[in-house]
Amino acid sequence: MRATSRGARTALVVDARRVPQPHAKAPAMSAPSAAVPGTRDAPALSMPPATVDVVLQVNGERRALSLDPRTTLLDCLRDQLQLTGSKKGCDHGQCGACTVHVDGRRVNACLCLAIALGGRKITSIEGLGTPDALHPMQAAFVAHDGYQCGYCTAGQIMSATALDAEGVGDDAASVREAMSGNLCRCGAYSGILAAVGEVRPACRVAKGGQ
Ligand code: FES
Ligand code: FES
Repeated sequence: MRATSRGARTALVVDARRVPQPHAKAPAMSAPSAAVPGTRDAPALSMPPATVDVVLQVNGERRALSLDPRTTLLDCLRDQLQLTGSKKGCDHGQCGACTVHVDGRRVNACLCLAIALGGRKITSIEGLGTPDALHPMQAAFVAHDGYQCGYCTAGQIMSATALDAEGVGDDAASVREAMSGNLCRCGAYSGILAAVGEVRPACRVAKGGQ
């Protein structure tokens, strides 16, 4: 679920129950049931609950929600909480436009189920800075023209501000690799790299780090 480099993110999971077993005994044939699904004689179907209650910690606020269990964190942020800064690009973990932080680590919000994140600390771009008090990374993106249309920008900034927590180096190659899961269709990569390169060491010095 992490928005890391493209090569590391796709895992192919084979469900052993679906693989034909050569020595498996064939199930005994039984007479077809006369019950038609949905009729009174049919066995009761066990359906998932329509909604599940969950309490999320979003941008420092406690948000009690009742969600369809299939709701992704991205849809929850955008549709339930009206936090529309996180963008939906691919909805498949391929573009990074939806990147947010969970407990300080970046994730693709389109790949997370919201009900699985109860009690975790979720930060979206709205929790990073405000229009009147930009986070230094947001200000650097403005100063270095790190965007054109802006669709990928929230994800780029959330990714960039999580690099220290992942121990990513300051050199351009390390930053490029670590942020290769954040695509920019406008090709603003040189400005993005300049912004990230300027701000990360400066923030660390300001915080008394290395
Ligand atoms: S919308 Fe989540 S990775 Fe593209
Ligand atoms: S600024 Fe347009 S997609 Fe990145």
